[in-house]
Amino acid sequence: MIIIKEALALSNLLKKRHPGNQHIGFVPTMGALHDGHISLVKQCKLENDITVSSIFVNPTQFNNPADFEKYPITIESDIDKLEAAGCDILFLPSVTEIYPPGKPTLHYELGYLETVLEGHYRPGHFQGVCMVVDKLLSIVQPTVLYLGQKDYQQCMVISKLVELKNFNTAIRISETIRETDGLAMSSRNVRLNEQERIQALFIYKAMIMVKNEMKPGKLGALKEKATRFLTEHGFKVDYVDIADASNLALINDWDGRQKAVVLVAAYLHEVRLIDNLILN
Ligand code: PAJ
Repeated sequence: MIIIKEALALSNLLKKRHPGNQHIGFVPTMGALHDGHISLVKQCKLENDITVSSIFVNPTQFNNPADFEKYPITIESDIDKLEAAGCDILFLPSVTEIYPPGKPTLHYELGYLETVLEGHYRPGHFQGVCMVVDKLLSIVQPTVLYLGQKDYQQCMVISKLVELKNFNTAIRISETIRETDGLAMSSRNVRLNEQERIQALFIYKAMIMVKNEMKPGKLGALKEKATRFLTEHGFKVDYVDIADASNLALINDWDGRQKAVVLVAAYLHEVRLIDNLILN
C-alpha cells in the first residue's frame, strides 16, 4: 500500500498510473478502523481496479470540541488493517493540506436534510462533512464512493453534495456491520467502559422493538415508548424517530406501505452513539 500525504502528489499519481478507463473506488474514513470500515474497503476492492482510502479526523465536522479531542487515533493498526484488506493507496493528509489557510469557506445548500435529526442536533456538522468530502472527491475523482448505512443521513447529504457539485461519481451504500450482540460497530465504541458497553446494546434492542411493534396509524406512542426504554437504561436521548427511508421526512402517521427507517441518537455519559434500522 502506498501512503500519500499530499493532495497534489495523490492526484498526479492517480492521473499517471490510472488513466480514464480504470475504475477508482474510494473509502473515506476518520480512522480508528473496525470491521465496518474494512467491509467497505473489501467491497471497493472487488468492484474497482484501484482502491483508495483516506484517514482524516476532520475538525470542521465536530460541533463539540471535546468529541474532537477525544476522537480515537490508532494509525499504526489502521495501516495494518488497510494493508491486510488489500487497499492500494492510503491518503493521510494534514489539516493544512485539506484546509489551506486563506481559502474561503463554502456553504452547501442542503435544505431540509440539514434541519432534522443529526442536522438539528449537531449544528454545522454536515457543512463540515461536505467541506471535507468535496475536497477529497476533487482530489481522488473516484468512479465509485463507498459509504456505510450506519450514517444514514450522511449518505443522503453526500448524495446531495455529489449532485450539487456535479461530481462524476456513483455512490454505493453498504449495510451496517454489527458486533455479535447487535451493537453497530463504531470508532466511538472504544470510549465505552465495560458497563456502558453492556448498556449500549439497548439501542439495537429499542430499534428491534420499534420494528416488531410498528403498525399502520399514529406512531407517537411507539416513538415515546422506545425513547423511555432508552432513558430507563441510562441514556440521554437526542432522538428516536421514524422517517421516510427515501427522504427522511418524519412520519407521524404511517400508511403501512411507506418505506420507513428508525433513527436513534443517544448519549451514554460523554459518548454519543447513533444507529438506524430499515423497518419494512
Ligand atoms: P467514519 O465515521 O470513520 O466512517 C467512515 C465510513 O465508514 C462511513 O461511510 C461510515 O458510514 C462507515 N461506517 C462506520 N461504521 C460502520 C459500520 N458499523 N458498518 C458499515 N459501515 C460503517 O463517516 C465518517 O467517518 C466521516 O464523516 C467522513 C465521511 C470520512 C468525512 O469526514
